Amino acid sequence: MDELVKAKEADPTDDLIGRQVLARRADDREDHDALTSLALLLLIAGHETTANMISLGTVALLESPDQLAAIRRDPSKTPNAVEELLRRLTIVEWVTSRVAVADTEIGGVPVKAGEGVLTANLSANHDPAVFPDPERLDIDRGARNHVAFGFGAHQCLGQNLARVELRVVFDTLFARIPTLRVAVPLDELPVKDDATVYGLHKLPVTWD
Ligand code: HEM
Repeated sequence: MDELVKAKEADPTDDLIGRQVLARRADDREDHDALTSLALLLLIAGHETTANMISLGTVALLESPDQLAAIRRDPSKTPNAVEELLRRLTIVEWVTSRVAVADTEIGGVPVKAGEGVLTANLSANHDPAVFPDPERLDIDRGARNHVAFGFGAHQCLGQNLARVELRVVFDTLFARIPTLRVAVPLDELPVKDDATVYGLHKLPVTWD
């Protein structure tokens, strides 16, 4: 990323990083390290997340044939299925950290100004008081109020791009390969339980 940003600084082509170089130069706030870090954030936040949602979401839909059949019958249901998959899988956990700017109270617990708060968005998305029978994948439950993209001013910048990508992927994948199935027993799938973004290291599939 360091080399890529250096190359764009030398020759700012008409693309995301090149435009950032020009805009920052015009504002007299060029900062190589800051731009490298932004580019890296966008790569991880933009690729690692959707790629893992695609693999895990594919497995989740194949494991719930009735739900998969429902979106194949009626693709107008896919946007709701995407919200439910985002809720059920919550692949980005523990990154929604905040610092209290004033003394407050959350769920009966006092939080003083300056204290840090880590929000457990996976737990929130599996709260049975909000999502009854939370482990069940139910594309009709209306899960749009999940917090898989965080919450507040710093909630995910790319969430609507992610929603479109996932809708297109799930509609297209199962329309083109209707007999798609996982090629190994599910407990042999290598899960990323050692990474910030949860997902699969690989997903072997096959079809007829
Ligand atoms: C399924 C896909 C994705 C998930 C589950 C996801 C999840 C998240 C979460 C939980 C946060 C933290 C929000 C908070 O602190 O309240 C976040 C932040 C962010 N995401 Fe995503 N994300 C996804 C896709 C993307 C994509 C496609 C992009 C860009 C192309 C992106 C760019 C960002 C950026 C830049 C931030 C930082 C926002 C800020 O701090 O103001 N994300 N994302």
